[in-house]
Amino acid sequence: MITSAMYEPAQVVERHEPGAFIPCHPEPRAQDPNLFQIILGARHSLIDNWIADYYRSGLDSFRVLRRQIVFVNSPEHIKYVLVTRHDNFERKSPQMRRALEALLGDGLFISDGDIWKKRRPLVADIVHKRRVPEFGATMEDAALALAKDWAALADDTEIELTSEMAQLTAMIIARAVFGKGLSRSSAEQVITGFTAYQRATDSFNLGYFLGWDDGWSSSGGSGKRQAIVMVHEVIDSVINAHLAGEGDAGSMVDLLIRRNQRSAGSELDLTALRNEAATIFMAGHETTATTLTWAWYLLANAPWVTERVHAEIKAACGARPPALADLPQLPWCRAVIQETLRLYPPVPLLPRQALAADRIGHIEVEKSALVMIAPWLLHRSADLWDKPNNFLPERFLEGKKINPFAYIPFAVGPRICPGMNFGQDEAALCLAILAQQFEVIPRPGYRVSPVCRLTLRPDGGLPATVKRRSDPPAHN
Ligand code: HEM
Repeated sequence: MITSAMYEPAQVVERHEPGAFIPCHPEPRAQDPNLFQIILGARHSLIDNWIADYYRSGLDSFRVLRRQIVFVNSPEHIKYVLVTRHDNFERKSPQMRRALEALLGDGLFISDGDIWKKRRPLVADIVHKRRVPEFGATMEDAALALAKDWAALADDTEIELTSEMAQLTAMIIARAVFGKGLSRSSAEQVITGFTAYQRATDSFNLGYFLGWDDGWSSSGGSGKRQAIVMVHEVIDSVINAHLAGEGDAGSMVDLLIRRNQRSAGSELDLTALRNEAATIFMAGHETTATTLTWAWYLLANAPWVTERVHAEIKAACGARPPALADLPQLPWCRAVIQETLRLYPPVPLLPRQALAADRIGHIEVEKSALVMIAPWLLHRSADLWDKPNNFLPERFLEGKKINPFAYIPFAVGPRICPGMNFGQDEAALCLAILAQQFEVIPRPGYRVSPVCRLTLRPDGGLPATVKRRSDPPAHN
């Protein structure tokens, strides 16, 4: 019997050098993992089992049980898979589809074929970058409300950053998706449901590796079912209110319904609308929350970068709070977010299933093989990045060239994250608003370690205290 007690997690390293910070990451394994380590590793953390060879660009193919796994870790071949041969590799892996289908149904994130083709323009349009300014006030209000809560904390009160950031980004996306009328308790019900769902989800689908091309479905037990009910209850009531003409005009659900009503003959039914609303909510809050959490960890350990951030906020905004329109004057805030996304991509693996046999570089790919692209490895490949494990936001400052196929925290090609601008602007803005007023201090001596199940988070969260900065602006 295989139990998780038999699994030895990789050693996590973190280093401070004069003027440099090498943030936490698992030490590459000395040798390839065996089958048990692969299965247990996938359940513990999907970034735990790599040997050093994988941290450089290249291609590889091996088998786990009856399934071929093809690793694609070079910009040229990533372009081939995600752009040139998108039609053959657009399908998500059965693990991912099975893990999310109970919650998202045929929502965009896990759909493919005709459904994906029909829905993509609808969803992409409502989260498109030209619409981000419409949601600026929602982002600013939510970050300022959190700043007010932090200001009211007694000295030395410990908070847990992943949950603070999840509340913040969930409130933003909930209000953007469902409208400003969404009550705090409904928002919390959705957040609790999503968190419980992630906890109950298994990230290894044995059936797929044993030869079932569509994997095995997983009911996940009563905890998972309860989590789904919590999420769907709120979303259905919001959609019903919109359909009855009682929803907030301008919310994403409102737009989805209006666009949908215009597409005569191919309208989405209530379930499809709910699936898309749930998808935007899920895809749009957890990713930005983990980005912000990692950004606080990085800034706390690199005071020379924090100084640049504070200085540019002061120069651009003086004593007033930063607003969305200030972002062009805040290049360090943006670069900190971009570098955070390089070091800790919230979606560290992009697994695809080959629809038909293909050839990637020198590798013959079987039909239904698992084709794995790992931003986690790509972003840390020594032949693509100078000092790949160092925190160096300056590599993203104006004028520096980044290969778009070597940096893919939002994926690339036709399936690129449609909320990329929304997420990047939201993270940079929230960082600027909170950093203007507070210093975030992780619990001294706490060992941070990255763990990946569906997304990449600090294992066990990130406990910290917040301290008012000595020259806080006067707007609180
Ligand atoms: C820092 C924040 C974010 C990151 C790092 C991120 C990352 C990603 C990635 C990597 C994918 C593609 C996954 C794959 O191909 O396997 C994706 C898809 C998606 N994201 Fe994001 N995302 C972020 C924020 C958002 C936001 C704010 C929204 C909505 C407002 C959003 C909506 C979506 C949707 C709907 C998809 C599915 C697209 C499709 O399959 O066609 N994301 N995201």
